[in-house]
Amino acid sequence: MRSDKRRVVLVGCGMVGMSYAYAMLNQNTVDELVLIDVNRLRAEGEAMDLNHGLAFSGSHMRIWAGDYNDCNNADIVVICAGVAQAPGESRRDLLKRNMEVFKSIIDPITESGFNGIFLVATNPVDIMTEITYKLSGFNPRRVIGSGTALDSARLKYLLGSYIQADPRSVHAYVIGEHGDSEFVPWSNALLATKPIDDIIAESKGKLKMEELSRIEEEVRTAAYKIIEAKRATYYGIGMSLTRITKAILGNENSVITVSANLRGEYGQNDVFVGVPCVVNSSGIQRILEISLTDEEKAKFAESCEELRQTYDELNE
Ligand code: 2OP
Repeated sequence: MRSDKRRVVLVGCGMVGMSYAYAMLNQNTVDELVLIDVNRLRAEGEAMDLNHGLAFSGSHMRIWAGDYNDCNNADIVVICAGVAQAPGESRRDLLKRNMEVFKSIIDPITESGFNGIFLVATNPVDIMTEITYKLSGFNPRRVIGSGTALDSARLKYLLGSYIQADPRSVHAYVIGEHGDSEFVPWSNALLATKPIDDIIAESKGKLKMEELSRIEEEVRTAAYKIIEAKRATYYGIGMSLTRITKAILGNENSVITVSANLRGEYGQNDVFVGVPCVVNSSGIQRILEISLTDEEKAKFAESCEELRQTYDELNE
């Protein structure tokens, strides 16, 4: 039974999970936040640390280190758990290990009677979201991956800086795999309702079309650069997850590029991939099909095919 208190359970108290928890606390997003980690002591320490900040936060959030039974009446279970790639380990072996980790997590969550929405952040996020869907047997509309939400935010930030506009007034998306085959459908990139192409054309040479490819590349390689500099990325993804959480809890019908299960949209099936979706308290209320040029359609199909191949290899 759901109570009238909104509850989120976070599984995985590493840097990503805790950046999410910290953003959730600062944005006063939920009534109850439960922390679960294989290392129980870690979860307890993190709960204490966050609770000590409560007095400064203007939030009444209850935070504690819990267990899978706490998922029973949760609205959302957010999964940030996973193992890190060992030296010399292939992506496929890493994925197999993460699949085992997910089995040990998803089973007790579903056995708890959990009836809310899964929000997955573990990488490779599109594949891990599909694994969550398969293991849970949930309606795919209630299994959401963070997808390209962060990539779209990176794009808005970089594009906004380039054209000197508030990123919130830039309407542009990164779609496809959260990874190397993602891309920007530039035909849909707008400042307010004006196409970016027109803004560049009318800038009398001040803004250049070539810069758009540089920005796209910068978005695609952002995580590599951050990892090189500080070993991991976590604040950006923590805030993306908070944004998605708010859209769900607030029944916002907000459009966010999350990883969703396509069933014929964009001519694709059997794949979880980042596309603009309307997100509300039912999870993915609907998938928005934006019109793509032929070239963009081909890029999107390629990205979906890569994801399908990775998923199939994993299950061979
Ligand atoms: C990021 O894009 C690595 O998925 C992580 O920041």
